[in-house]
Amino acid sequence: MHSFSFLIVCGLRQNRSVKSIAKASSLRIVGGLSSAETGDWPWQASLQYNNIHRCGATLISNTWLVSAAHCFREERCLSTLLKPPSLKRSIKTIIIHEKYRYPEHDYDIALVKLSTQVEFTSHIHRVCLPEPSETFPYDIYAVITGWGALTNDGPTPNALQEATVKLIDSNTCNKKEVYDGDITPRMLCAGYLEGGVDACQGDSGGPLVTPDSRLMWYLVGIVSWGDECAKPNKPGVYTRVTYFRDWITSKTDPGYSPCLAVLVAKRGSARSENRS
Ligand code: ARG
Repeated sequence: MHSFSFLIVCGLRQNRSVKSIAKASSLRIVGGLSSAETGDWPWQASLQYNNIHRCGATLISNTWLVSAAHCFREERCLSTLLKPPSLKRSIKTIIIHEKYRYPEHDYDIALVKLSTQVEFTSHIHRVCLPEPSETFPYDIYAVITGWGALTNDGPTPNALQEATVKLIDSNTCNKKEVYDGDITPRMLCAGYLEGGVDACQGDSGGPLVTPDSRLMWYLVGIVSWGDECAKPNKPGVYTRVTYFRDWITSKTDPGYSPCLAVLVAKRGSARSENRS
């Protein structure tokens, strides 16, 4: 019964708690908490090169992950690990956004196609993607997860870390003392202006998610960049997923074709004309 419901829905977590909220976190991602329980964040993947973690990624279907474009600027033969429990897949295709230009951070999004599909279980399944028109209020909490550094340029954890952050509006984030106009419409800031909690090196490509009222989790952002980690006035900057929702659909959905939709509609009306 459970496995069936996971086939048709997205964004559900077996273990519904968010540890980083329960304990007001100010330790360490940076400032997060260890979240090692099996399948706590079922969409989290690790992109690895020679078995070494390089970047995070998020499962959005049986065969597609979304990650950050800057994760692929060096090696292209990464493998991916969905864990826990460990499930390894090699990568078949990488689609980097056509407008991404290293070293700029704009359009920092990539899609990763797995060589073979993964069967969803309660511990491994996709996150929900928001509609392009969706707007997230700034007072809600969101969660970041990853195997990135615990402090700027610091050690990396073995266990997946999670931390709770708040979305920060772009006007605030573009203030002179924050990012001084560097935040484009493709970006979204999250964290705390007082510092202390943030994503860090190695978290890139991973998810920033938020639950809706039914506790289904939506992908709001993709870890992209920041000035070091967890510094005051330097919150994390994320790729804004709503901006890219249609791009993601156009690249990943084999059935997606606006022309086909028109054709189907015409056929339908032709048939009903015949009948009447
Ligand atoms: N760009 C870095 C990476 O490749 C880290 C990005 C997040 N940094 C931050 N302070 N939120 O992993």
